[in-house]
Amino acid sequence: MSNSTEQHYTPGPERRGFLKRFAAGVIGAVVGIVPLLSGLVVLLDPLRRKSAAGEFTYVAPLGAIPEDGTPRKFTILASRTDAWNKAPQTPVGAIYLRRTGPKTVSALNVVCPHAGCFVEFQGANKSYYCPCHRSAFALDGAIASASPAKRGLDALEVEIRKDNEVWVKFQNFLAGTSDKIPT
Ligand code: FES
Repeated sequence: MSNSTEQHYTPGPERRGFLKRFAAGVIGAVVGIVPLLSGLVVLLDPLRRKSAAGEFTYVAPLGAIPEDGTPRKFTILASRTDAWNKAPQTPVGAIYLRRTGPKTVSALNVVCPHAGCFVEFQGANKSYYCPCHRSAFALDGAIASASPAKRGLDALEVEIRKDNEVWVKFQNFLAGTSDKIPT
């Protein structure tokens, strides 16, 4: 049985305005916190913080690089460590090594600086070519004029140790920029 004296509360205009503003504030806070949390996950990921990037890594004996100056591709292996684990050596990138003298070697990262595809060495033209958007690079990594890439291939530091060991300071760099910015 219903009570005829029962009354339903209807919020006034001021109360409705407050509720709308409150709801908008809550939605705004939720939308804002998602990218913040994503950033924190990346920042705190120990595997991302501790890799071999930027350290000298042994790549190959000098004898493995052709003496005629033809570049040869090598995989870069590195062990990754974090607060809990030390992973065995895993591939972290690749480079082209080329003899520039009997005891000197140059190294280029295989990643195209335009948008990150892998370049290929073409023996017929003695140049590097990117199949994604047709950037071309000279033997020393210099960019060909008609290429969409804004800089040449990224050269890496090389050290010859013990007269026969080729060590490279492996690094990746930001794609799409004219400056070489380590990532
Ligand atoms: S990624 Fe190499 S040309 Fe675009």
